[in-house]
Amino acid sequence: MTWANFCLRHFYEYIDMNMDNEWKWIQKALGNRSLMPFVEFMALALYHPVNGYYVTQAMNIGARGDFYTSPHLSPLFGECLARQVIDCWEIMGQPIAFELIEMGAGQGILAADILQAIAQICPKLSEHLTYSIIERSQSLKLAQRHHLAAWGSIVQWREWETIEPASIQGCFISNELVDAFPVHQVVWQDQALQEVYVGLDGDRVKEELGPLSTPELQEYFDRLGINFEHYPDGYRTEVNLNATDWIQTLANRLHQGYVLTIDYGYSADRYYNTRRTSGTLQCYYQHQTNSNPYLNIGLQDITAHVDFTTLAKRGEDAELTALGLTQQAYFLMALGLGDRIAALSQTETQNIQEINDRLQTRAALHKLIDPTGLGNFYILIQSKNLSTTESSRSLRGLTIPERF
Ligand SMILES: C[S@@+](CC[C@H](N)C(=O)[O-])C[C@H]1O[C@@H](n2cnc3c(N)ncnc32)[C@H](O)[C@@H]1O
Repeated sequence: MTWANFCLRHFYEYIDMNMDNEWKWIQKALGNRSLMPFVEFMALALYHPVNGYYVTQAMNIGARGDFYTSPHLSPLFGECLARQVIDCWEIMGQPIAFELIEMGAGQGILAADILQAIAQICPKLSEHLTYSIIERSQSLKLAQRHHLAAWGSIVQWREWETIEPASIQGCFISNELVDAFPVHQVVWQDQALQEVYVGLDGDRVKEELGPLSTPELQEYFDRLGINFEHYPDGYRTEVNLNATDWIQTLANRLHQGYVLTIDYGYSADRYYNTRRTSGTLQCYYQHQTNSNPYLNIGLQDITAHVDFTTLAKRGEDAELTALGLTQQAYFLMALGLGDRIAALSQTETQNIQEINDRLQTRAALHKLIDPTGLGNFYILIQSKNLSTTESSRSLRGLTIPERF
């Protein structure tokens, strides 16, 4: 082989390795199958070890990326959560060992804000606190280590596999984790519940319907008492079996304490309403939304709303008591956000820079409680192994609970 041929061959190998078109990595994942369930496609698009969205893009959550989350708007989101965590710790009788476990921590912004607020508001809890993170994305783990370096050994990274059953005393929290779990898609067509499969037609992604890939999908609806016979033909929706596995794993590891799950979603009767005919799948690309998961594969986030009824019910099967579901706006207002907004409006200053800063902060706080946006997110709070007196004490953030 000549030197020129050698270089050319390696150049093409390099291109092949690094410039994989999305259809090539889908083809590799299909192997000798012609189709894969949608859930597998979504897992690839988000978490493929080389090309997945949470491997290559998610470090940019925020202004430079595709979407904002609440912690990116203001540290007061973390402060309100910290107040709720302190409340939980006090109800539990201020235990000496208290572990806060955040799952899916993004760039670590919320973790830093919560740690900072607890140190300021309740130094006594700070002394006893361990902050653990369970994170799937290696690149986000790196970003978290960088952002949280100043907190030293208070922060640690853990894996489910190394956490003993019934070993955690404390609080599990997550913000926009469950909507990032890959979901199954199903369609009620020709009087049968069918599943969405994904394959390739040349270099284009195609969808086909087929039989359910697992009986768990039908069981999911049976448990909710949903019978599709009266649903319109072509009705499409999502099922998050990863969320049901997750709540059971988490309940198994918790000995005593609370679970706070923040996300967008609905109770099952609203989620699986006959009028929501095309499901809840949403994609985010450069701060624009679309509902086509086959666009910008690996470059756009794909999410599905959360069925909070199932999270609460499956949690109850695993000994978690569902204490309440409330909207983010009510939760944050009950934990002091309203007072902070009011304080920002009261100033005698004539300094333009200060006035502009206050207006900007106030606008960000309004976004956190906007009923057409983040304010319409929900917080599900569950508990485990609390005494009757402890469970009867109401939580500060749950002043306006909804049914689930
Ligand atoms: C939409 S981001 C939210 C990030 C952060 N909580 C925030 O509010 O900015 C979803 C996060 O969950 C992580 N994630 C997704 N699936 C996960 C899993 N099974 N276990 C742990 N983390 C996961 C992602 O890598 C990412 O950090």
